[in-house]
Amino acid sequence: MIKILVIHGPNLHQLGKREPQVYGRTSLAQINQAIEKLAKSKKAKVVIKQSNHEGEIVDLITKNKIKFDGILINPAAYTHTSVAIRDAIAASGIPTVEVHLSNIHSRETFRHKSLISPVARGTILGFGPNSYLLGLEALIDLIDHK
Ligand code: DQA
Repeated sequence: MIKILVIHGPNLHQLGKREPQVYGRTSLAQINQAIEKLAKSKKAKVVIKQSNHEGEIVDLITKNKIKFDGILINPAAYTHTSVAIRDAIAASGIPTVEVHLSNIHSRETFRHKSLISPVARGTILGFGPNSYLLGLEALIDLIDHK
């Protein structure tokens, strides 16, 4: 059975309440339910974590190296700043898909650059909560066809 680690970065625990004009009204719990449902239909297992701490995210990626076939990550604000998370993904060798709810390229210029994209197999952004589901599907497909 394919095992996927899903990581939600900082402030995503506030989804639904946080800047709903940008991120919508769907809560993280609702997104996680949809992720679980899709994973089940694809006969994959997901472990879902949210962290506001850069080092904790590094630990999640590197300490789980043996257990997971793929990583689905929304690095949130760390997308634009974290060499540490980028290096952890690169070092893990685990196929990783980066997702964002919003289209970071249509927002402030400081969000246009992702330090994570060059080490991700692919990126899906701008589709709200559906970005996670599209990303999960793409990740499972790519692991299946490896
Ligand atoms: C985000 C975009 C980031 O720029 C922002 O810091 C977030 C969420 C998104 O999903 O659209 O926290 O990753």
